Amino acid sequence: MTRPLRLDGSGRTDRLMATLTGVVAVYRRLSGVSGRRRPPVLAVDRDLPLVVDDVRAEAEGVVSLRLVPERGEVLPRWRPGAHVDLSPRPGLVRQYSLCGDPDDRSVYRVGVRLLGEGSTAVHGLKKGARVTVRGPRNAFPFVASPSYLFVAGGIGITPILPMVRQAAASGADWRLVYTGRDRASMPFLEELAQIEALFPAESSSTLSGDRVWIRPDTEYGVPASGAELLEGMPEQAPIYCCGPVPMIVGVRADAALRTSGPVFFERFSPPPIVGGEPFRVTLARSGVTLDVPADRTTLDVLRETVPGIAYSCRQGFCGTCELPTVTGARVRVCVEREPVTLDL
Ligand code: FES
Repeated sequence: MTRPLRLDGSGRTDRLMATLTGVVAVYRRLSGVSGRRRPPVLAVDRDLPLVVDDVRAEAEGVVSLRLVPERGEVLPRWRPGAHVDLSPRPGLVRQYSLCGDPDDRSVYRVGVRLLGEGSTAVHGLKKGARVTVRGPRNAFPFVASPSYLFVAGGIGITPILPMVRQAAASGADWRLVYTGRDRASMPFLEELAQIEALFPAESSSTLSGDRVWIRPDTEYGVPASGAELLEGMPEQAPIYCCGPVPMIVGVRADAALRTSGPVFFERFSPPPIVGGEPFRVTLARSGVTLDVPADRTTLDVLRETVPGIAYSCRQGFCGTCELPTVTGARVRVCVEREPVTLDL
């Protein structure tokens, strides 16, 4: 008696189905028929060779880059808040938030403000340039919620932008406070206006005011406190905040006084060193000893003697600045604050 085919895919593979699948596979191999073959998906944990497909000026000193795979492969999946390690040239790596559409697996978009060696190299890239990308990784995860308050400062809008889009598409109640020096220096204002037009605030909203509050210092003054940016927020809405350190510090301090909801934040610059002690770092091979003052990082002091030491996040999480010690251990010199003897 012939057993029925298993259509639900459960249990062991039906022998007839296995035979048919094998025949089809052999036919495709021999005939070159690809069927609906999907492009391979690139792996996250290796270097991705990508090509600059477009460079666009987004604001004063800010460009966005569209990066695509060389052979049209499908890019690794990412979620709002994710970043990639972008290497514009060998030996130089910097981290940038992805600010495009997570559902478009053919392209990554990053927004980069001109500020220092890494961003200067990125700003120098032209269409067709080859770069290396690693990731994406997510240290700023976006969680599902019926409402959100987003607070972005300057280039801190980059991880927030896909969050805003996703919040809007999900039907959540959301507000964005976007600060900056002046409008000309604030990227993606047009995109935000489009999102707001598509998803206007409803009268039943638990959050007050318009969806998006563009708040340049030239029009409103420098924010005096975090509380000023949290106006009208409801009790439980999670806050997502990205921008300069003083803004994040102010938002976190004042949010603690007025909401029991969580505050998620990401900073682009290292936190200031508070209560540091001076210490010494020895370079074993050259016999050089370096004094690291209480208010400076080992990385900064080391780079004065060994300028080629690579770094990226300067906050201890990317591992780019890791160096070997004489004991065989490795230390991240951007955050190392103990006497150490490096195998250099
Ligand atoms: S630069 Fe990222 S861990 Fe040090």
